[in-house]
Amino acid sequence: MKKVGVGLIGFGTIGTGLIKIIQQEKQVELKHIADLDITTPRSVKVDKALLTTDVSKVLNDPSVDIIVELIGGIQPAKKFILTALKNKKHVVTANKALLATHGDEIFQTAKDNNVYIKFEASVAGGIPIIKAVRDSFRSSDITSVLGIVNGTSNFILSRMSLDGQTFSAALKDAQGLGYAETDASLDIDGVDSAHKIAILSSIIYRTRVDMGHIYVEGIRHITLEDIQYAEELGYVIKPLAIANRDGNKLDVRVHPVLISKEHLLSSVSDVYNAIYLRGDSIGEMMFYGLGAGQMPTANAVYSDIIDIVGKMSAKSNVMDDYSFTNRLDIKETSENRLRYYIRFSAVDKPGVLAKISGILGRSKISIASVIQKDRKQSGAVPIIMMTHEAEEKNIHSAIRGIDKLDIIKSKSIIIRVKD
Ligand code: HSE
Repeated sequence: MKKVGVGLIGFGTIGTGLIKIIQQEKQVELKHIADLDITTPRSVKVDKALLTTDVSKVLNDPSVDIIVELIGGIQPAKKFILTALKNKKHVVTANKALLATHGDEIFQTAKDNNVYIKFEASVAGGIPIIKAVRDSFRSSDITSVLGIVNGTSNFILSRMSLDGQTFSAALKDAQGLGYAETDASLDIDGVDSAHKIAILSSIIYRTRVDMGHIYVEGIRHITLEDIQYAEELGYVIKPLAIANRDGNKLDVRVHPVLISKEHLLSSVSDVYNAIYLRGDSIGEMMFYGLGAGQMPTANAVYSDIIDIVGKMSAKSNVMDDYSFTNRLDIKETSENRLRYYIRFSAVDKPGVLAKISGILGRSKISIASVIQKDRKQSGAVPIIMMTHEAEEKNIHSAIRGIDKLDIIKSKSIIIRVKD
């Protein structure tokens, strides 16, 4: 029987992993491998005749049924994918940035041309979360999604917490291990997580979530001190992507969180990812696995290819449905009511706590606990406060006021808390 023809665009880390799997499984025939660089040696042996720097060869070859896009970024990836779809070729991609920002056009083009677009590897690497949320849940059932979906940030915070490593040493290790994006600021500033929660929440809630809807905060400001104080208070700091539905409103945000050591997500460390769902009928559910790295991600790409091969051989004309029929309003982050960890850096003298708590009290913020350990003769000391639930807008206005006091020596750090 004639094997399904696959054309690969992008001979990088994941592309190399994918070729290894294709060679091992022998279920599809690799027709072309396109990349701008076809001379640098890779850790896989390929027939030189397959290599090309000319993408149009892949896009226009009638023997190619499925095109795999693994170059990342918006352009020229978008142009290649749209051309492939218009040429009636199924597409498999890992391109989260593209789907998060131009998903509508790509899904619509796939639908118009009656071909599949699959993107399992775009969210949480090796975890088959797209398939699960697309096929296994009613969107009306899910009330909350909490995800650790950036392996690099989780790796950095875990190494700081477990080994006392500095931020930059841990980042360097993550880059060396091939987890980080080419531009690592996408990882540590939360943008990669935002791309992933945009895709995931759009599918789960069947509503279009754009990057502009998402509050995004990275992990650069988290210090070893914060990690240690959190630990004393019974929490770990995790980089979370969050999408909560509250009636007709959706609250979508990315930021570090103090999460209780009793929560399932607190034990998800290093490059592991996890997606924790809560729903009215499903209760709690968590998906856990490797979220980055060559072979887990290549495996997700391969599973999409095999999915399409199965549909082709069954001559299925049932397409995946990515029409976002719900219209949920996006909630402003300032409307949230959460608990907060606040670290002040204050002079150590009588009356300091009274001044801080006075402003908090006037902003209707109730203090749950306070730590101040290091007594110093001069300079600033850290004062850590945990609040009860408070309105986020009140927290920000109170801290702005407190930071103007002459007893405060540097900008206060605020981290949201999840019990
Ligand atoms: N840079 C990403 C991460 C790779 O660290 O999770 C997977 O998308």
